[in-house]
Amino acid sequence: MNRGLNFARFLIEQKKRNKSIDDALVSLINDVSRACKNIAIAISKGAVGDYLGDADGVNVQGEQQKKLDVVANQIMIDFAERSGNLAGLVSEEMEDVYPIVHDDLRGKYLLIFDPLDGSSNADVNSSVGTIFSVLRCPGTCLNPTAADFLRPGSEQICAGYAIYGPSTMLVLTLGDGVHGFTLDREFGEFVLTHIDMKIPVDTREFAINSSNQRFWEEPVRRYVGECLAGTGGPREANFNMRWIASMVAEVHRILNRGGIFMYPRDTKDPGKPGRLRLLYEAYPMAFIVEQAGGAASTGRERILDMQPEALHQRVPVILGSKNEVELVVGYHNELGLEEFKSPLFNVRNLFVQ
Ligand code: F6P
Repeated sequence: MNRGLNFARFLIEQKKRNKSIDDALVSLINDVSRACKNIAIAISKGAVGDYLGDADGVNVQGEQQKKLDVVANQIMIDFAERSGNLAGLVSEEMEDVYPIVHDDLRGKYLLIFDPLDGSSNADVNSSVGTIFSVLRCPGTCLNPTAADFLRPGSEQICAGYAIYGPSTMLVLTLGDGVHGFTLDREFGEFVLTHIDMKIPVDTREFAINSSNQRFWEEPVRRYVGECLAGTGGPREANFNMRWIASMVAEVHRILNRGGIFMYPRDTKDPGKPGRLRLLYEAYPMAFIVEQAGGAASTGRERILDMQPEALHQRVPVILGSKNEVELVVGYHNELGLEEFKSPLFNVRNLFVQ
């Protein structure tokens, strides 16, 4: 595999190496990559295209939609539906499953995506992304329901993201490592630029929204406190902090130079055990991070082992450099015994009823 290989050719090479990759999957991933190129064009027009600011509606989570959320969602649906390889799709921006109803367009895969992650960043000309995940459709693939999408993350056959930053990149795993492609705008092609990306196991850089500190659980307070203590603290090292407010951008930084990203469980909103969504944020990113040698956990459980209960379920996320993630998980385990004895820190507790 050589740098400079174009994306379509890369997929053909992958298919030769891996019998479980068929023509339909290759064609679907190609169409997702074309959708990402079109989203990149819309984003880059910014204010000139009248794409900045709020749309009229709110999404299923009750969050204000941005104009670009709506545009990116429609672009993904158009390309994915026309690919003819999907039984149905699920998007952050739509409450229910979107089934493919035309017989001649229906295929055997399921696509789950967040069309524009971190979309408020677009208004300030900062990085945003698209996240996607592909499953095989169980059963007949006729009119798939939510139950067909509620499968453990370990069943994903492909996951990826596009990052729209100073350059547009597509990062992909088919379960055999992680590879990054950069969009060559003159030729309109993604070309292989980052072969077999690996996350360093150690890091001195963490990312967390520290304005939520008063809502964190004890293991996260302890971890961040020890990082902040620097050379004089138990870690005997100085740590750096980053927060871009776009999960795609945080994961991309971690894939390139290591780090730990946390949106942990907190007590800010008792109805939500975390901020990030399992199916189209935590699962695909956990698959990518593990394939790059990192780790991804809720603090209590490996993310890819979770059994989802709802399409838009939220979960705590702690991912990145393996040794740091394991340290934070260890702090959760240490507290675990006491945690479930104490009414203050139980799953159902004084804060979370
Ligand atoms: O979709 C959620 C998201 O935008 C992530 O991409 C990002 O990591 C996080 O929310 C930012 O959260 P906050 O608004 O707390 O900074």
